[in-house]
Amino acid sequence: MTMGDLFEKAFLFALSFFGSRFKLLLGLTALATVGVVTIAGFRGDLTRRRPIYIFPDMKWQFKLRPQTKAGFHIWPNDMSSRPQVMGTLAQRSGFADDTTWQLNTINTGKEAGAFAEVNPFPITLELVRRGQERYGVYCQPCHGAQADGNGMTKKLGMTTVANLHDQRIIRLPDGDIFTTISVGKNTMYGYAAQIPVKDRWAIVAYVRALQISRLGLEADVPAPVLEKFKK
Ligand code: HEC
Repeated sequence: MTMGDLFEKAFLFALSFFGSRFKLLLGLTALATVGVVTIAGFRGDLTRRRPIYIFPDMKWQFKLRPQTKAGFHIWPNDMSSRPQVMGTLAQRSGFADDTTWQLNTINTGKEAGAFAEVNPFPITLELVRRGQERYGVYCQPCHGAQADGNGMTKKLGMTTVANLHDQRIIRLPDGDIFTTISVGKNTMYGYAAQIPVKDRWAIVAYVRALQISRLGLEADVPAPVLEKFKK
């Protein structure tokens, strides 16, 4: 029996089964539809199976994922890319918990949508000293060593620098000052790209120290220190 004979037999059997050529066509179309839907599913269906790619375009291509083993030698350690350059800053900090950065007070200066009232870092001498040093680098040129707005830039014509001893600024929550350092305020630019998150909080702590320096009373100074000043 040849292939042709076989097809003829199959055709005649199908014809007798469906009754007419038209019904046969209808039946085969229905069968094909069911077949395609079974294999391919409806358009828009979600599936974990790989789609059938007739034209793969550039969906599979040779590429390297950043900071992974490359599998061959490009950079030292066979990594796919080089580590960050020394001194690269994270504009956002790592998290102790598993919240996203938007929900993290340390990164945003906010707590439940409002500015955080107090610095999320414990105020240690070390933190304030760091803040003093960084304030000297980033804020003093404009705000002045005493934070009264009399920095170098005033001599150069910048006259709108805020006096941080202003009653309104003293009353601002810590998170508000943190946000001003991060994203700026009116004519002051933000410093998120230059100052890492923890240093910004250190500066906030130091700004508070500067403010207290003008608000403190004689009674606040420990006796031995006061002695020294009176000499
Ligand atoms: C290039 C100059 C410049 C530098 C540097 C600068 N500031 Fe300012 N800052 C300004 C000016 C100008 C204003 C007033 C902005 C305004 O309201 O128009 C201001 C305003 C502020 C305010 C008041 C914000 C408010 O709510 O009104 C704070 C707080 C402040 N700066 C903190 C800092 C700190 C902290 C640093 C250092 C990280 C810093 N600034 C660096 C120029 C500067």
